[in-house]
Amino acid sequence: MSVVALVPAAGRGVRLGAGRPKALVPVNGESLLLRATRGLLSSGRVQRVVVAAPPDQVELVTAELAELPAAHVVPGGAERTDSVRLALDAVPELAPDARVVLVHDAARAFTPASVIRGVVEAVEDGAPAVIPVLPVSDTVKEVDEAGDVVATVDRSRLRAVQTPQGFAIDVLRQAYAEAGDIATDDAGLVERIGGKVRTVEGHPDALKITTAFDLAVAESVLARS
Ligand code: C5P
Repeated sequence: MSVVALVPAAGRGVRLGAGRPKALVPVNGESLLLRATRGLLSSGRVQRVVVAAPPDQVELVTAELAELPAAHVVPGGAERTDSVRLALDAVPELAPDARVVLVHDAARAFTPASVIRGVVEAVEDGAPAVIPVLPVSDTVKEVDEAGDVVATVDRSRLRAVQTPQGFAIDVLRQAYAEAGDIATDDAGLVERIGGKVRTVEGHPDALKITTAFDLAVAESVLARS
């Protein structure tokens, strides 16, 4: 039973500047995408990675991952949901025996192997969908349209969600077939079709590199190690 990971990296998001897709932004000379893909494969629990790239940059992204023969690049779609769907559609040909599928953000390039293994193990244990989470450390308020506070949310019951999210492959297929519309979070699609989502422990290092500040932090941490 093999495990395949999907990495939607077809966004043109240029919030980090650098004039290129975020996934290709280098951290100490190596792109987020290369680091994230190598991290998945070197966890020892992922045999194949399918990356969705901007359709006009498939060659560039393929070259970026040339050192990882287990990584395959497909053209992505208009929205993240389309890109995941297209990567999922490529699985029967690329990894016909895959029973577990992970969906991972390239921007979480420093996710420890222990988190990846924990997600795979929970799916193999029978959970249809699994997400790594962390407790929420900020106080969270609910506000109205005017920005005035309506309530203070009980944060002991809140969790911040990371990736990789893991699924029994048939469950993710069904969620994508039935859910139809756009989602920021794949496990949310499983919830919508009534599926149970289990949580496992995430890790602070699995943070999403979103801003120039995050990038600078990652560079300085790497420079010290
Ligand atoms: O733009 P946003 O940050 O929401 O994108 C989240 C992730 O989805 C990014 O990794 C991005 O590359 C990916 N994405 C994609 N296909 C799109 C849009 C976004 O794979 N059409």
